[in-house]
Amino acid sequence: MKGVSVRIATEDDYGGIAGLMEELFPRKAMNAGTGDVYFVAEACGAIVGFAHIVLRGEKAVLQGIGVTEELRRKGIGALLLESAIAYCREIGQSDVCLKVKALNPATRLYAKKGFFVMQFGDVCSMTKKEAT
Ligand SMILES: CC(C)(COP(=O)(O)OP(=O)(O)OC[C@H]1O[C@@H](n2cnc3c(N)ncnc32)[C@H](O)[C@@H]1OP(=O)(O)O)[C@@H](O)C(=O)NCCC(=O)NCCS
Repeated sequence: MKGVSVRIATEDDYGGIAGLMEELFPRKAMNAGTGDVYFVAEACGAIVGFAHIVLRGEKAVLQGIGVTEELRRKGIGALLLESAIAYCREIGQSDVCLKVKALNPATRLYAKKGFFVMQFGDVCSMTKKEAT
């Protein structure tokens, strides 16, 4: 989307990410520690989307992704997800996994980007193998 850039976050972005998380996931607090990597989508100096990867040992987990409601369906979520996957590939993490509620439309975004359902239920486990 024109005017939107996606980049890895720095600590200066944490306030903006926390604000967006509060808007999208009111019951979840931002919890940035060692092994947590955030990507942000920025438009006009404001954070309008984020992707959160957690690196714990061998595993790369996409812990969360969100785009502010008024800018959805413009390709920002896909850009964030592609950046997160490319980053995992660059640092040698072959697989990226995630959990998502089966009814969440985000499953379509994940499937489009090569994630397969590994375990199906109310909450699905999805994995992208070898970050292809
Ligand atoms: C999931 C989310 C991040 C997608 O962001 P987005 O910027 O709207 O996604 P994109 O525009 O890049 O969508 C890319 C593709 O994914 C699929 N997709 C995304 N949202 C969809 C929806 N609501 N319904 C159906 N398909 C959808 C479509 O195939 C879409 O391509 P298209 O628009 O050309 O049809 C956004 O809807 C969101 O923030 N949701 C609330 C938070 C959330 O539930 N996050 C996931 C769990 S952590």
